[in-house]
Amino acid sequence: MLSQRRENRRGLIPALDAWDLTALGVGAIIGTGIFVLTGVAAANYAGPGVIFSFILAGTVSGLAAIVYTELAAAMPVAGSVYTFSYVTLGEVVAWLVGWNLILEYLVAAGAVAIGWSSYVGDLLRSVGIVLPRALAGSPFDGGILNLPAVFIVLAVTALIITGTQHSAVANKVVVAAKLAAIFLFLLIGVRHVDPANWRPLLPFGVAGVFQGAAIVFFAYIGFDAVATASEEVKNPQRDLPRGIICSLLISTVLYVGVAVTLTGMVRYTQLNTASPVAAALLRAGIPWASALVSVGALAGLTSVLLVAMYGQSRIFFAMARDRLLPPIFDWIHPRLRTPVWDSLIIGLVVAAIGGLLPIGLVAELANIGTLSAFIAASAAVIILRRTAPDLERPFRIPRMPVIPALTIVSAAYLALNLPALTLVRFVVWVFIGLVIYFAYSYRKSALAGEGAEKEEPGNGWMLPAPARKPGPGRR
Ligand code: ALA
Repeated sequence: MLSQRRENRRGLIPALDAWDLTALGVGAIIGTGIFVLTGVAAANYAGPGVIFSFILAGTVSGLAAIVYTELAAAMPVAGSVYTFSYVTLGEVVAWLVGWNLILEYLVAAGAVAIGWSSYVGDLLRSVGIVLPRALAGSPFDGGILNLPAVFIVLAVTALIITGTQHSAVANKVVVAAKLAAIFLFLLIGVRHVDPANWRPLLPFGVAGVFQGAAIVFFAYIGFDAVATASEEVKNPQRDLPRGIICSLLISTVLYVGVAVTLTGMVRYTQLNTASPVAAALLRAGIPWASALVSVGALAGLTSVLLVAMYGQSRIFFAMARDRLLPPIFDWIHPRLRTPVWDSLIIGLVVAAIGGLLPIGLVAELANIGTLSAFIAASAAVIILRRTAPDLERPFRIPRMPVIPALTIVSAAYLALNLPALTLVRFVVWVFIGLVIYFAYSYRKSALAGEGAEKEEPGNGWMLPAPARKPGPGRR
């Protein structure tokens, strides 16, 4: 049986309603996926069919969102799907989920930083400042270091360390700027659409639409930020599902609108650029609109970066509490009240990813990591219904197990549509994760006994299931 729901550890007063959650979700979701990857996906995979790719990826995310809602409402704790997995699937699976969440948060943050850099480059160019090529791109893109990407990551790291990220007002301002940028693009762009650009609609066939969906799926990463705020929601039963579904719906509608407009303005063959939305307005001869949209995009990308890096530090924090990571990761600075080492290490790694790697590779890895988390969460929700039938569930998925089963199948299918090399990289990533688990975490973890007096494993959520027999060699 699950132990009784704990008091809100952080002393948070539940103050968020469905609107706050929707703003939080939109703040976390809309970013590089729409502002950058739409162009790449249209040019290389789906053509104008990228419109359908967005609908497909949005549907898979919508299914997963329902799964996350039940879990988050029943277990409102930091650590998201990592914690859900810990209490249902056991420690080693939880470790792997946490390990793959590094792809969803930390690696995705790298991709967002690269997107930020391309929009800042465009904006600077529009006022006559051209960054030297060597300092504006990764070695894979003909440069040496993507300096703007490194800069924004370090700036956001400083914000997180000093605890400045908690401003709900700032989040709403940024969300408004980001939405304004998209509406401006739609408003002006529609007048420059040439329907001939939509023909052929599916130059790469239906297969291309699926491959495009596997790429633009990145645009939906982040909705689980809403789930992780569940401790602070006034009425989780009503507001959590509303917040999650609303933010996904708004994002999907805007994405489809942008995809329709963009592919109508510019022939898909010419969309292979890192800042397609701004570039399309420039081509249409409206530089002021291009500059304004770039400013809104930059604000939006910064907020996504913040949420992703902050989310990663919470997950490391949760894993360190279960002693799967070294204690340095749950050390709180006495004056700043933030996990400073967590944030610093995350900042340095994200800066290295953003500075040295190309966006395609990074985004694809983030996608496969997130899709694997969807699969784990779906398995967790099914298993938990059996192992803890009496757990208080403020939100219950109807007609179990149809939705989680569909999520597993569709997420796996989308993952298989990623380039083969990405699948290989993912397998290598999982293998490295397993090596680290058995070399370090398995011996040190709270379940191994050392940490039992310090902290209950699973962040205070206990099930009979995850307990392992202490094996030889466990110290
Ligand atoms: N969904 C987020 C973005 O597109 C990660 O930037």
